[in-house]
Amino acid sequence: MKNTYQDIVSFIRQLYNTPEGFIPLHAPVFTGNEKKYLSECIDSTFVSSVGKFVDLFEEKIAVYTGAKKAVVCMNGTNALHLALLMVGVERDTEVITQPLTFIATANAISYCEADPVFLDVDMDTLGLSPNALRNWLNTSTTKQINKSTNQQVTVNKNTGNRISACVPMHTFGHPCRIDEIVEICNQYNIPVVEDAAESLGSFYKGQHTGTFGKIGILSFNGNKILTTGGGGMLLFMDEELAIKAKHLTTQAKVPHPWAFVHDEIGYNYRMPNINAALGLAQFEQLPEFLRSKRLIAKNYNKYFTTELPRRIKDSTPRPNLIFHISEPSNASSNYWLNCILLSNIEERDKFLKHTNENGVMTRPSWRLMNELDVFKDCERDELINAREIANRLVNLPSSPIVDNHE
Ligand SMILES: Cc1ncc(COP(=O)(O)O)c(C=O)c1O
Repeated sequence: MKNTYQDIVSFIRQLYNTPEGFIPLHAPVFTGNEKKYLSECIDSTFVSSVGKFVDLFEEKIAVYTGAKKAVVCMNGTNALHLALLMVGVERDTEVITQPLTFIATANAISYCEADPVFLDVDMDTLGLSPNALRNWLNTSTTKQINKSTNQQVTVNKNTGNRISACVPMHTFGHPCRIDEIVEICNQYNIPVVEDAAESLGSFYKGQHTGTFGKIGILSFNGNKILTTGGGGMLLFMDEELAIKAKHLTTQAKVPHPWAFVHDEIGYNYRMPNINAALGLAQFEQLPEFLRSKRLIAKNYNKYFTTELPRRIKDSTPRPNLIFHISEPSNASSNYWLNCILLSNIEERDKFLKHTNENGVMTRPSWRLMNELDVFKDCERDELINAREIANRLVNLPSSPIVDNHE
């Protein structure tokens, strides 16, 4: 009887039409105007933070996502840092987030000298659970009036610290229950910063992820659905905030043809024109990338729900104990990284070993943030689902295939 894991390797090799050699988890595809725009950018000499490509890239992403304005950054991590500063995250405050995320989410909170609070995720969305959020806010916080601003704030009963923001993340591109999260946070006067680093092209109830909270952020790292080499973006529904963000990302320089005047502490966070040139060419291919990634997900889903169980019946692990995670209800996912759940951590590790030794790159989920030394003392709830997912989840190769392979 053919081994279940070898069957999966063969399926992935067939899907990617790669009978031999290495299959990466996610490789960028450059089949559009990348070289043309890059050489146009070099010829213009405007390769740094001013130029037509940065402005155009911002406009295109704003229109596509439905944000009122988009502001480029050097990467998703500094977009998050700035977003947190802008909503008032500061020293000795706390920021609610999920432990199942890339470390950038938690690091950005630390850059503001605030502490993360890690709450559980939902099994179906892999993102912050509105129930966990509601429960923790009900039991662990109290509302107070800030005497200097006369505004209601939410304070952690144990530490006395203000809850200054909530950062849900759309894990592997699957939208979380963001409308509920925003509604709960509004009741507690907590601003939401959406970490949509992985979810460009993902919509929840018809609205693009990253546009529900006060600020959303995107990443254009080399492994994302669309890349600028390195890059990030802030999404705003409030134009005033966007103007302020652009000011802060450009060293807070007061616009003037020659004078160098800076009216507050700013940052050198603006994406260079040359990266935006790459981004614009990539953006033109986004519909094609999305089409391909959704088709790949459909193929994985069909394979794991019908083909594999039919072919391999009496093996260990039982193929019907391997689940492909589909887009949650009410959502259209970009399926940035496909993922499956194995039956337990031992099977997960055997699967990782077999696939990687056979040239098919697979990866476990991130180590939960609360298990890392730097965040191990942070407040958290029971994290029942997050632990289960971290023990069982594996990401599968998900690069877009630009040829039609249906
Ligand atoms: C969830 C999440 N947040 C933030 C980031 C940070 O983005 P960047 O690598 O562009 O700094 C990433 C990706 O890298 C991410 O996956």
